[in-house]
Amino acid sequence: MKEKIVELISQNIEGMTNDDISLSIEIPPRPEMGDYAFPCFRLAKTMRKAPNMIAADIKEAIGDVDFLDKIEVQGAYLNFFIKPELFVKSMVDAAKAPDFGGSEEGCGKVICIDYSSPNVAKNFHVGHLRTTIIGNSLYKIFSKLGYKVNRINHLGDWGTQFGKLIVAYKNWGSKEAVTENGIAELMRLYVKFHDEADKNPELVDEARMWFNKMENGDEEALSIWQWFKDISLIEYKRTYDLLGIDFDYYLGESFYMDKCQEVVDMVTKAGLLQESEGAMIVDLSEYDMAPCIVTKKDGSSIYATRDLAAIFYRKNTYNFCKCLYVTGQEQKLHFAQVFKVVELLGNEWAKDELVHIPYGLVSLEGAKLSTRSGNIIYAEDILKDAIAKSLEIISEKSPNLENKEEVAKIVGVGAVLFNDLYNQRIKDVSFSWDKVLNFDGETGPYVQYTHARCSSIIRLAEGFDPDMDIDYSILTDAEATALLKEISRFPKVVADAADKYEPSIVARFAVDVAQAFNKFYNASRINVPEDNVRNARVMLTYLTKKTIKDALLLLGIDAPEAM
Ligand code: ARG
Repeated sequence: MKEKIVELISQNIEGMTNDDISLSIEIPPRPEMGDYAFPCFRLAKTMRKAPNMIAADIKEAIGDVDFLDKIEVQGAYLNFFIKPELFVKSMVDAAKAPDFGGSEEGCGKVICIDYSSPNVAKNFHVGHLRTTIIGNSLYKIFSKLGYKVNRINHLGDWGTQFGKLIVAYKNWGSKEAVTENGIAELMRLYVKFHDEADKNPELVDEARMWFNKMENGDEEALSIWQWFKDISLIEYKRTYDLLGIDFDYYLGESFYMDKCQEVVDMVTKAGLLQESEGAMIVDLSEYDMAPCIVTKKDGSSIYATRDLAAIFYRKNTYNFCKCLYVTGQEQKLHFAQVFKVVELLGNEWAKDELVHIPYGLVSLEGAKLSTRSGNIIYAEDILKDAIAKSLEIISEKSPNLENKEEVAKIVGVGAVLFNDLYNQRIKDVSFSWDKVLNFDGETGPYVQYTHARCSSIIRLAEGFDPDMDIDYSILTDAEATALLKEISRFPKVVADAADKYEPSIVARFAVDVAQAFNKFYNASRINVPEDNVRNARVMLTYLTKKTIKDALLLLGIDAPEAM
């Protein structure tokens, strides 16, 4: 419909391309302003006339059109009213398509998303939960737009901390304790190391020696390190399983060990490398940034070196059109430095292909959590608590539900994810169970519940089939049209969310559709004796269910059929 209107306008004005027209067409905020509006301000300059006069002229020139009820001039706007039945039909047809919401803009293009990336031997905490959830949602969003997305887990599995851990393990650890308590024991050993090193600084030298051994391929050092890594991964994977999240590549920092020298050579050759207090750096003062350290005093690589190596590896291996990094905003400077160095090495593409996607903090003040030890918060525990609490609520609300456990998992995990994704990612997230698990607020359970209500309506509608033809005039009332218009926003919502790297746009859309559906549901009886009325309303219910489900999937959230 929009294209048809663009065509009409373009035939009757000069000086704007079809794309220009399409971009300036707006969806009016109120139904009495029509279905589409075209503002004439821009034409005033070239046509040397007042915008409202121009609008009147265009209206005159267009005349009567078969698919339009009327065109109205309202101020500088030309408002188009499409024949309601035709408008309904066009929206229904679009929303029915299996790939509704998606596009082919990304076909043949590769995007890398670097997310989650916990630090080996440390717990998977709430901050890592955010990068994991946001990164996974971006993966789904870009996939929907046709991109091939490589999901990369850049594990923090290298660095001097492993030297410390080995020393601590040898002095105060045991095989049994590590096997039994996993990451918690590794964290205990790490704290113990620092306590002891305060009293006995020689331990620090010893740790450095063990890390050097690792860097030089020492078998014993590497086998302990590998063991710590394996143990950590088992725990991380438990969290990923709860979330239903997967990766294409686990390529941690250690993978780039033997690729760091190449980076140093490149930077040297480009004349960018300088010595500073024994370390080798790239001076970035011209860009108002602290220097990027490339190698430390002892010649070893650091976090930034490995990120530089990773960028070139990814560019050469995957030929990405974008490489996205989802981390907390405290790493803003780090990525700005690294991306700048890549650019200074003569890679103009770094400017728009390397993107840091920061997010805010999570505050758990309002939430009582069952933590394992002290105030160390494991993401896994939050998810498990959410599932347990959901099970309680569901058992109370729907005692006869068959697969309660399965549903509780979907609802509990979905609630946590939705709470995380509902606000702009840069904002801090507050977490309280009352809010997260509320079935009526702007929450995951509310949206899932609406989906389940749709499912039940469809189940009860015997003889309904989504491929059947319906009487479109039934859906021209205010609530049905408002709901259809809401649903029709889906493709734009997905495109915007991708454009801004902002899953919250999809989360808000899911709530908007659910709310519009509930208004429709309260205004119109669905299961009525007249077949044409019933089928049309069930069709709208079906499209609501389908769109909500697809929107939730883009957030990494599933939607149960009943709850
Ligand atoms: N391991 C890091 C952390 O936990 C995040 C890594 C992000 N990715 C990267 N390529 N630097 O803070």
